[in-house]
Amino acid sequence: MIEVKEKNPDYFVLVNEDNRLPEGFENTVELIPTENIAGNQFKVEKKTYDAFCALHEDVLKNDGIETVLLGSYRTVAAQEEIFEKNLKEYGLEFTRKYVAIPGCSEHHTGLAIDVGIMLDGKLHRKKEELLSLEHLFEIIQKKLPKYGFILRYPKGKESVTKIAYEPWHYRYIDSPQIAGEITDKGICLEEYCQKV
Ligand code: DAL
Ligand code: ZN
Repeated sequence: MIEVKEKNPDYFVLVNEDNRLPEGFENTVELIPTENIAGNQFKVEKKTYDAFCALHEDVLKNDGIETVLLGSYRTVAAQEEIFEKNLKEYGLEFTRKYVAIPGCSEHHTGLAIDVGIMLDGKLHRKKEELLSLEHLFEIIQKKLPKYGFILRYPKGKESVTKIAYEPWHYRYIDSPQIAGEITDKGICLEEYCQKV
């Protein structure tokens, strides 16, 4: 009988401007296909997806907020496309603030998710729309650690993460306890990784 080994990625992998996606990382991740209510198809790491579903149920039932998974895993080619599109539409300054350099996006890991909000029958998914819903994201953010997520680009940490505050981008680290510690200390993943 062939033994199927469960894939076990490094859930604490740090990917940013100074730390490219480690070579071969994608081979350690179990990516599953999914589709959101808008018909967008994409892949996401299995445990990350399960954790998102639990978060989704919680905020829907208890806070009346309907979250929608907008995206997760991206190839380097997909990130290049997004980078170019933003560059054309918004210019370099905006793009560098909100879009990671291809090869340096944690979306390449499948452990990062972007979450939109369905409100009054409309799916809010664009950056401007999402930024205007900050009050709803603050409610969602309080529940992230319970499901093993952290807010990856917090307010006030822009000089460390080199990315603007993104209330919609969450990173799965597979440990509610450490996600809680990171959140309570008000640090970002870069700072946590420096300390351990
Ligand atoms: N929006 C995040 C920073 C990314 O492009 O990976
Ligand atoms: Zn994102």
